[in-house]
Amino acid sequence: MVVAIDGPAGAGKSSVARAVARALGFTYLNSGSMYRAVGLLTLRDGGAASEHAEKLDIELGDRVLVNGEDVTETLREPEVSEAASRVATNDRVRSALADKQRELLGDGDWVVEGRDIGTVVAPGAPVKIFLTASPEERARRRAAELGTDVDTVLRDQALRDAQDEGRAHSPLRMAPGAVSLDTTGVTLDDVVQRIVGLVHEAS
Ligand code: DC
Repeated sequence: MVVAIDGPAGAGKSSVARAVARALGFTYLNSGSMYRAVGLLTLRDGGAASEHAEKLDIELGDRVLVNGEDVTETLREPEVSEAASRVATNDRVRSALADKQRELLGDGDWVVEGRDIGTVVAPGAPVKIFLTASPEERARRRAAELGTDVDTVLRDQALRDAQDEGRAHSPLRMAPGAVSLDTTGVTLDDVVQRIVGLVHEAS
């Protein structure tokens, strides 16, 4: 089965999705890494983002390998985040990556995090979560992770939110039937327990 976890950057998706996967013994998939990889290749090599997406050679695990190169840390750099958000507005990139994700999800049990998993990639997922947190809380978490100041993150975050929510193709939206969870001031453990409970109810 597929557990889809969508929501804006900094809502806590990665920590939550990883912990839910561990608790359930499901495989974790971070779909954002694919957009980041396409962003990185487009920045580095130029050319059409859609071609990079269609030919993407990526291994996703504790480390992320693109064309055999370990790019785990590089993918988190601010320029790569910006490039990822940009290539994510391209419908050919989105359909190529969604196809790759559907292929993976066809077999086994998964916890997948992204922006369009419940709406586009796996609308039939029995458990769909829309994770949110206040903009200030999201910026605080990102700033702590990146070691930068909150105001800069808050500004970049507002730009990226507008891009993710405003794009014509698969904008960030809560999927029909999704459960909305606000993680502001809630412990990771409580959020994880809530989702694990929903999965048990659904299975
Ligand atoms: O979750 P993240 O920050 O690693 O995602 C990087 C970018 O990719 C972000 O701008 C949103 C985009 N993205 C997307 O459009 N659809 C997804 N399923 C996952 C990420």
